Amino acid sequence: MTPLQRVIKENNTTLNPIWIMRQAGRYLPEFREIRSKNPDFIKLCLNPNLSTEITLQPLKRFDFDAAIIFSDILMLPYGLKQKVEFKKNFGPILGKLNLNEISKVEEIDFVERVQQIYKAIKNVSNNNILKDKNTIGFIGAPWTLLVYMINQQSPKKQLKKDFFENKDLINNILIIIEKFLKIHIKNQIDSGANLIQIFDSWAGLLENKDLPYYVYNPTFNLVKFTQSLNTPVICFPRNIKDYKRYCDFIKPDAICIDYEVDPLKIEKEISIPIQGGMDPKVLLTDKENIKKEATKYLDIFKDHPYIFNLGHGVLPETNPEMMEYLVKTVKDY
Ligand code: CP3
Repeated sequence: MTPLQRVIKENNTTLNPIWIMRQAGRYLPEFREIRSKNPDFIKLCLNPNLSTEITLQPLKRFDFDAAIIFSDILMLPYGLKQKVEFKKNFGPILGKLNLNEISKVEEIDFVERVQQIYKAIKNVSNNNILKDKNTIGFIGAPWTLLVYMINQQSPKKQLKKDFFENKDLINNILIIIEKFLKIHIKNQIDSGANLIQIFDSWAGLLENKDLPYYVYNPTFNLVKFTQSLNTPVICFPRNIKDYKRYCDFIKPDAICIDYEVDPLKIEKEISIPIQGGMDPKVLLTDKENIKKEATKYLDIFKDHPYIFNLGHGVLPETNPEMMEYLVKTVKDY
């Protein structure tokens, strides 16, 4: 078993495996080099040779315990033929959502549009560097995808006033999203992903009364589906107010926490394996502070099954030397 599997399946508390969200990305000069020659982000995600190379870049530098496949949660709307673009210094921009068009997309059309991702997962998982390590596949949670598909861009702090206006559209889109997320999960697993992470980046935007419909029920269905394929799932409902209630409802194999929650409270309330937490901005400071903050999390979770990660993606301005120091600190703990 890999170190991550030992934490997730056997509740091991001595290994402290580490991987980092957005570990393949802009803080690495070797990524920026490839990116500068490939201005179209979607095309880059669909180039299996390059996406394999990018996925493996951080593993060549650092002793991470997993590779997360270089792709994006918005490849789902792309696969459903909604227009998706990434604008520099702005983020994603999606085309108008057309229910009629999306309803016509069949499984074979979707798989054909995204199959290069599965090819990259095959390449990555077969690479020797991943011996005794995990290949992480991922999806966006239905709620977060709904937000992007309707809002057509990041919502920043709040949703548009009329976001919930067309209930009929929302209900239909949620059913389609769930159907294709299952297809996407199954294909990633069949290609070699042996762990799935579900990103619900906008879970924190909802009021409690709306959580069961938009977050708990659809995410529970996907967690159950993934587990039925004998593959563990980590959920990351960023900024959700009540992580315990989320875990009680959804029953993921592990829960990833953001940097705004109190890790002490989480440790007391939640018994399943925990991942993440440290503020990515810590990596912009100095070694002494990195050691102090990383040790804080490792101390709090020393008797708890714990996977080291950050409480959000690594920031592009991070110095790779500081990442190396973080990995060393965690491994030497
Ligand atoms: O973690 C990894 O290394 C794997 C690859 C990965 C990417 N995006 C690559 C990426 C993963 C797991 C994601 C998830 C993702 N994508 C989420 C959930 C996590 C989160 O950040 O909340 C979301 C909401 C998206 C949608 C998305 N993709 C946004 C909002 C942006 C622009 C913001 C930004 O950081 O620039 C992206 C672009 C993106 N996805 C980049 C990378 C490496 C940067 C692209 C670039 O080089 O310009």
